[in-house]
Amino acid sequence: MVNQQNSNKEFDFKTLFRSGILGVNPYSPGKPIEEVQRELGLTDIIKLASNEDPQGPHPEVIKAIEVAAQDINRYPDGSSYQLSNRLAEHLNVDPSMVLLGNGSNELLNMIVRGLISPGENMVFAHPSFVVYGLAAAIHFECGRAIPLDKNDRHDLPAMAGAVDDKTKLLMICNPNNPTGTYNTTKEVEDLLQSIPSRVIVVLDEAYFEYAYADDYPDGIELLKKYPNLVVARTFSKIHALAGLRVGYAVGHSELITQLQKTREPFNVNTLAQAAALAALNLPEMVKERSLRNKTEGAWLAEQLTRLGFQVVPSQGNFLFVRHAMAASEMCEKLLKKGVIIRPMNSFGLGDGALRITIGVKEENQKCVLALESILEDFTG
Ligand SMILES: Cc1ncc(COP(=O)(O)O)c(C=O)c1O
Repeated sequence: MVNQQNSNKEFDFKTLFRSGILGVNPYSPGKPIEEVQRELGLTDIIKLASNEDPQGPHPEVIKAIEVAAQDINRYPDGSSYQLSNRLAEHLNVDPSMVLLGNGSNELLNMIVRGLISPGENMVFAHPSFVVYGLAAAIHFECGRAIPLDKNDRHDLPAMAGAVDDKTKLLMICNPNNPTGTYNTTKEVEDLLQSIPSRVIVVLDEAYFEYAYADDYPDGIELLKKYPNLVVARTFSKIHALAGLRVGYAVGHSELITQLQKTREPFNVNTLAQAAALAALNLPEMVKERSLRNKTEGAWLAEQLTRLGFQVVPSQGNFLFVRHAMAASEMCEKLLKKGVIIRPMNSFGLGDGALRITIGVKEENQKCVLALESILEDFTG
């Protein structure tokens, strides 16, 4: 066996990498159920850690995947022609405005890499979706992180204030992961009007189907007025296709035409294309799940408040909470009871905060019961 540790004594591979990459804390995903089963020997486990939809894909979507599976000896349609056109129809935009990705994650990276040259910068919020910071660190350390305001919301005036003549990109995560807070249509428009139109603003709406506030903006609507806007969305959340990896960005066709060049040739796989196409025919499912999330989220927030958590109001499918007990300790104890949630240290938030994905009723009840027993003896 080749021992990789000893095979190259001459040379430190680290010297090959840019300092930005050496400083990166790799993306740390929520623990998979199988890993917890293996480590703790538990069988009855619920995962409320990665903001996935707790219900599986619709049977019609599974059927479409099974049909498409017959053809996976062939490469996928490299342009995702059918899906792009169907999405464009669904969103009432021109197909040339649609860019498909291997998850919206890939699109966010493509946008950063495609647009930012050395010396230029990207403004984003902290804490927010960790991929912005990661993408920026890897790409010329171009990130400018602006703290959320005291209500855990994007401080859009401060973000606008951080824009300078080297700013190419500004990211808004709406609702924000991990806090679940949102910015209103007016606030987003105020920002768009206060910065130069050469700055591309990415509105990351991964959770938009769950949002229900009346003044929550519809990015696609805003595109009509602001050509420098790009809206990023995903099939990973309410459509329950996280494992297949498919997301989309919508923006000005000239911008999208250039970004298309940065795509891997077959970035959206055959099964993902078929599943997403089928998912677009299920608006009722989206409505039902959104309503389930709202109802269950309200219940969970109430119970957590009763247990002494400070719960941040959320428009997503997750709750950001704080408690006097150390988050890492609480997560460890919950894990032993078969409940996986997410401590927020991977978001650079120390040990004071947690994010809990809103599950189906039984999962939320199990989570609350487990927390009750953990907190029974806790005196703070
Ligand atoms: C705000 C936000 N944007 C983008 C993504 C990436 O989603 P996808 O699965 O489409 O890559 C996530 C995933 O958690 C997210 O929270």
